[in-house]
Amino acid sequence: MNFNFANERPADADTIIFAVPKNGLDDLQLDLAQGDTVKAGAKAARFDGKLGEVFEIFVTESDKILRVVLTGLGKGKAKDAESAGGSAVAKILASGAKHAAFDPSSLDQEIRARFLFGAKLRSWRHDKYRTKTPEKQKVTLENITVLDAELANSKAWTDLSAVADGVALTRELVAEPANAIYPESFVERCEELKELGVEFTVLGWDEMEKLGMGALLGVSQGSERPPRLLAMRWDGTNGEQKTPLALVGKGVTFDTGGISLKPGAGMEEMKWDMGGAGAVAGTMKALAGRKAKAHVVGVCGLVENMPDGKAQRPGDVVTSMNGQTIEVINTDAEGRLVLCDAMHWTQETFKPDVLIDLATLTGAMIIALGNEHAGCFSNDDDLAEDLLEAGKDSGDPLWRLPVGAAYDKLINSPIADMKNVGPRGAGSITAAQFLKRFVQDGVKWAHLDIAGMVWADKPSPVWDKGATGYGVRLLNQYVVDNLES
Ligand code: BES
Ligand code: MN
Ligand code: ZN
Repeated sequence: MNFNFANERPADADTIIFAVPKNGLDDLQLDLAQGDTVKAGAKAARFDGKLGEVFEIFVTESDKILRVVLTGLGKGKAKDAESAGGSAVAKILASGAKHAAFDPSSLDQEIRARFLFGAKLRSWRHDKYRTKTPEKQKVTLENITVLDAELANSKAWTDLSAVADGVALTRELVAEPANAIYPESFVERCEELKELGVEFTVLGWDEMEKLGMGALLGVSQGSERPPRLLAMRWDGTNGEQKTPLALVGKGVTFDTGGISLKPGAGMEEMKWDMGGAGAVAGTMKALAGRKAKAHVVGVCGLVENMPDGKAQRPGDVVTSMNGQTIEVINTDAEGRLVLCDAMHWTQETFKPDVLIDLATLTGAMIIALGNEHAGCFSNDDDLAEDLLEAGKDSGDPLWRLPVGAAYDKLINSPIADMKNVGPRGAGSITAAQFLKRFVQDGVKWAHLDIAGMVWADKPSPVWDKGATGYGVRLLNQYVVDNLES
């Protein structure tokens, strides 16, 4: 779907969208011949501009049928406008409407871009594998023309549009099945970022073996698909910000559990076990796309976790790149094994002051927080605070959980430096504790367990069922608030 900008309603527009603040129907100016009928109809239908409400009616305008859509803005704050834009698009995307005009005159200048952002996020689809979509479910909407020509090149819109493009990349990587997205093809899909000025470093098996990444490679060794470590660096500061913010993502392109095999029911969901890496890639696309004045590196640890004659066994001991040894009690606790080497390499290579890792790390995170918040674990209160703040503002919410010595000792191993799982309780925290053992002195670190957030069983105003793109809006907001201002 395309966004166009013009001051006049295009002749071929078959739909017009208006945004209506809560209880704002009476004050609304509708630039329509039958504007009063529309308002009376909306009132009769008890539409009052409540956030998320959508009212639809057909009128005759210049001898043609025109679909009029009123969408409730609630209080009209930035976040409200975003949901309202998403709700309007959700209503008309597959409605038969082809070309919608959007009349933004009820919105303040800066809020207009937010409405469109929501609309753009909600219009994303992943239909490439559907060859027999019933006619009525097919997307019909091809164009939205915003009746504000100046908005086209405003920074408010071009920045948000770039963020939506980043979210779309994450969603695509997450939604694709594991026969399409595996370590090598994940890297290939990201290569478009080079055109935006992102610098790539890609390591394969041999390089990682030389570096001693025994933990990451131990997971990979049961798979026919070779692993990759992908680093994408964006510097929009002309070298002014010396060390980059580091983002590290878990990219298990499929998680069978390995020899500690997962149950069959629902295993297909583990195609999205690369959601952390997907969020990192999408964030890099957003930042480079809007030419963020920040220096950021995104690192993706990419492997497939398979059972095989060559796969690692429960009880195997592996040595990570920083020399610490790990007893692999459960081959299904593989994410931390991938991340520990990726995080160590990132710190050695880029010397960041701040490192944020994202991972669909534990099922226990979903038990604790459901699908409403991702978990945030940190060794630094200010960093945690900044991330939680960015979470609230961006619509990718976080909730903080503790780390500490009492949890740390639960992963001591009698035969190695640590084991890769603790007891049944506090499973998400002991996973975080494991990662913390690989954080170097002086580095501010946060671990975001996004297991409950990357995939949605129900639509929201800004996504349909499926991949949400969680993490991109969050990290983009964190960069805006902490590196660019
Ligand atoms: N990728 C899973 C975590 C997960 C499970 C995410 C379900 C989303 C939905 C991770 O690799 C895993 O298998 N974790 C184990 C850890 C356990 C063996 C300590 C888990 O959560 O069961
Ligand atoms: Mn697993
Ligand atoms: Zn996993």
